[in-house]
Amino acid sequence: MSTTFTLDTATSRAHPVPEPVRRLTVPAIAARKVAGVTAEPVVMLTAYTARMAQLLDRHCDMLLVGDSLGQVIYGLDTTVKVTLDMMLAHGAAVVRGSYHSVVVVDLPFGTYEASPEQAFATAARVLRETGAAAVKLEGGEVLAPTVAFLVRRGIPVVGHVGLTPQAVNALGGYGARGKSPEEAAKILADAQAISDAGAFAMVIEGVMEPLARSITEAVSCATIGIGASPACDGQVLVVDDMLGMFERVPRFVRRFDTLADHVSAAAASYAEAVRARTFPADAELYGTAAKRR
Ligand code: KIV
Repeated sequence: MSTTFTLDTATSRAHPVPEPVRRLTVPAIAARKVAGVTAEPVVMLTAYTARMAQLLDRHCDMLLVGDSLGQVIYGLDTTVKVTLDMMLAHGAAVVRGSYHSVVVVDLPFGTYEASPEQAFATAARVLRETGAAAVKLEGGEVLAPTVAFLVRRGIPVVGHVGLTPQAVNALGGYGARGKSPEEAAKILADAQAISDAGAFAMVIEGVMEPLARSITEAVSCATIGIGASPACDGQVLVVDDMLGMFERVPRFVRRFDTLADHVSAAAASYAEAVRARTFPADAELYGTAAKRR
């Protein structure tokens, strides 16, 4: 008698029809911007779970496991409280749920700023334990040596400039950045430094439109805008914002659906069916139809 047992996962939600792996690569994304022009905009959305990654994957070039999961999934008030363990668990789930997009995982606050060595240890762990292709980190000129350190050691980096939510305590809120000429010049210098350090792409968040346009013209890497400019080389949104899961969203969010209403209506129908004992029905039971009370 065999002593080897194989778990029957045929009915598992986690493994739908297997797809051939034809994942986009970091060099393929980087190659989209030629002589300052990106003919095919980079499509990026955040994803935090395997199932959502499965649904988004074929439509996106990049999936970002953003530390916005702190607010979206965990109900935290800021991303400052997000831990590396959270990023590792959700990063691995998104990689398991995708086969086409480049998966990028945010380095959480406090895990990379102290030194290039600290950043390398964290980023290496993220790539090793999640299978993601790249990491994203927030910051400008001061983080440029760290970006160069990672890139020279084989870790692809996406930068993030402008409104950097991990710095909310220093910034004093989530208002748009780059309103004064001085602040705009500083953000442009930040973007230039991160691009020159070797980032293959860069999120520009929450800045005045002309600034995002200028950054996109100035830097060689692809810019991915969120509250930035249609001139950016690509766009990103937080998926739950885009799906209409929240009542309050920043001005730059376009809701492409009203999912919260669908969820609420489905929950109301379920509750009604349970209370009326019309769920489960005979077809939803195992064996002979159970006696109705
Ligand atoms: O954490 C996140 O989701 C992000 C996006 C808003 C770009 O950084």
